[in-house]
Amino acid sequence: MHERIVDLPPHEYTAEGLRCFEYVDREHTAAAAAQFIAQTIHHDPQALITFATGGTMEPVLAYLSQSGVNASDVQAQHLDEYVGAHPDYDPESFVRFLRQRVFSPLRIQYTHELNGMAASPEAEAERYEAVVSTRPADLVILGIGPGGHIAFNEVDTPFDLGVHVQQLAPETIQRDILRGQPRRDQALTQGPRNIIAGKQIMLVLYGDQKGKWLADCLTGPIDPHYPASVLRLPNVTPRVTVFLDQAAGRILRSC
Ligand code: F6R
Repeated sequence: MHERIVDLPPHEYTAEGLRCFEYVDREHTAAAAAQFIAQTIHHDPQALITFATGGTMEPVLAYLSQSGVNASDVQAQHLDEYVGAHPDYDPESFVRFLRQRVFSPLRIQYTHELNGMAASPEAEAERYEAVVSTRPADLVILGIGPGGHIAFNEVDTPFDLGVHVQQLAPETIQRDILRGQPRRDQALTQGPRNIIAGKQIMLVLYGDQKGKWLADCLTGPIDPHYPASVLRLPNVTPRVTVFLDQAAGRILRSC
């Protein structure tokens, strides 16, 4: 399915200080994003990587798992997980997604998983905060969702928040229901503070809707009302790389 694809040079530019690599389509974007992750691992086989999940990541992780990179010493952690999702039984569980698509095919032994089934999600958030704050991630991988959310930091999440229990926005709940998932109202998520602690941060997006969400976060004020605008903070921007397809780029470049 994810055959090796022809390398094409990206269209390179900066948008609000963010380094952007725009590719002709989703497949080329995903392949380039996977290559970036593989290079990080080649450079530092013990890199600590924070993985995102979701549709955006499906082709990226498929290319990564076929890349032949030796990731057995990588340390892997999660961005987020639905409260109430069981990694062994619930198809929408993000832990399950990563186990199947990355941890297992790449034989990653060191994984720090979020427990969506914890009796107290608040205590689980505290536990995970202690885990993720011991060492900054070498690479944080992000997608973007409704309202410009990154991880599950919905509109108006304070930038200084760490791992927390997040009430999902109506647009996110609706999106997930339309995808055929059971209704989930809450998630555990790394907060903006955890994300921007990453030494490198990559954001991957395809399509005009995601281009619009990102454009809103790049043209509006740097404010929690535009969650991805946290990436424009001057001390964060130099560490951010955006991989996007032409459909998203067209929207971004027209703003
Ligand atoms: C998931 C995550 C979310 C998704 C976003 C886009 O781990 O962090 O922010 O990246 O909701 O989801 P998809 O890619 O499914 O459209």
